[in-house]
Amino acid sequence: MNDLAGKHIVLGLSGGIACYKSAELCRGLSKAGATVQVVMTEAARQFITPVTLQALSNRPVYGSRDVSGFDAREPNGMPHINLSREADAILIAPCSADFMVKLAQGAADDLLSLMCLARPIQSVPLLLAPAMNREMWAHPATQRNMAQLAADGAILLGVGNGFQACGETGDGRMLEPAELLEDLIAFFQPKSLAGQRVLVTAGPTFEAMDPIRGITNHSSGKMGFAIARAAREAGAEVTLVAGPVSLPTPRGVCRVDVRSARDMLEAVVASADSATVFVATAAVADWRPATPSDQKIKKDGSGQPPVLHFTENPDILHTVAQGERARSGRLFCVGFAAESHDLVNHAQAKRERKGVPLLVGNIGPLAFGQDDNEMLLVDAQGVHPLPRAPKLQLARQLIAEIARRTRATA
Ligand code: CTP
Repeated sequence: MNDLAGKHIVLGLSGGIACYKSAELCRGLSKAGATVQVVMTEAARQFITPVTLQALSNRPVYGSRDVSGFDAREPNGMPHINLSREADAILIAPCSADFMVKLAQGAADDLLSLMCLARPIQSVPLLLAPAMNREMWAHPATQRNMAQLAADGAILLGVGNGFQACGETGDGRMLEPAELLEDLIAFFQPKSLAGQRVLVTAGPTFEAMDPIRGITNHSSGKMGFAIARAAREAGAEVTLVAGPVSLPTPRGVCRVDVRSARDMLEAVVASADSATVFVATAAVADWRPATPSDQKIKKDGSGQPPVLHFTENPDILHTVAQGERARSGRLFCVGFAAESHDLVNHAQAKRERKGVPLLVGNIGPLAFGQDDNEMLLVDAQGVHPLPRAPKLQLARQLIAEIARRTRATA
């Protein structure tokens, strides 16, 4: 998806071993549709050459030994002014401890720091991806500089935890290129759910027959994960209750992994009390084996299959939608319907049965596991189709719709 189409990003590199990740970040920014102008400090050039970044960004790299900031390539000789005026955002990745000091003090003795100082502070956001050894990161001086930078309006993107180039393990690694990209894309999304707490269920549930086997379904969880990501991008605090799926957790989302429908209900009830929006995308198993065996069910040699008895699972959406919080209008509930046929009638009937103001209908076999989908929004007024599109795009449309409706009822 061209999530950064039309955006011009100045990618600044200061000195640190994480510069090797910036090449991939540069490529990721371009692939997402952004134009990228790279500016490097002298120290960054010790770790990666400008040639690499010029090739990946398709533009000459700025920043040189000439620390005055004047550059004959620019008609007015002032890249620090021109580059910062053109940018939709400046992203410094990696941002070294030393470069933070310069930013915090307003130093301007190389093109990158000069450009950051010269940037129009109201219209050009400055995002920082710190990278350093764990002791440097934890040092009070670094933490003090970060607090100062945040107070001055910079956006700190945080750090990763793990093995460091120096051989130590801890906080301070630069976030991975994919994580930085996700954060930057999120940064540009409208904050239509700021202040809201969104609870999402996703994926299938697994209902055990014995310790080895169980029943489940084809839900991949992709739609629910996309909705959790879109809600987070829109500024909400998000809890994602996920059945057994192998998907990465969207950035900034609190994930609770569960297995069975009853586990899912328990996790949902624990969060629903403080949520303002509940989106139930999970394909919850309607039934579970009534008495799962605590040992593997073995063949007995008779050729007769075992007889399984089922009992109905709790209806999570219905339970929440009938709760006091939803009924008093403090929790906006959205259901999903996975049907195989006659979508409009089934979805309308299901919306009423579940007691929710909004239900999203889709054809299960066309949606499960796919990266795109088409959906039908069903409310008391009628139906409104959302044409086939990538799931993240549909998720953003749905979140915008939820934001509009919750604003209207607030
Ligand atoms: N749902 C739920 N708990 C259940 C069953 C469903 O929370 N035990 C939620 C789903 O997450 C979805 C909506 O209810 O938001 C509809 O789920 P779906 O499986 O389409 O419908 P069912 O209620 O199971 O009805 P049926 O199987 O008859 O179509």
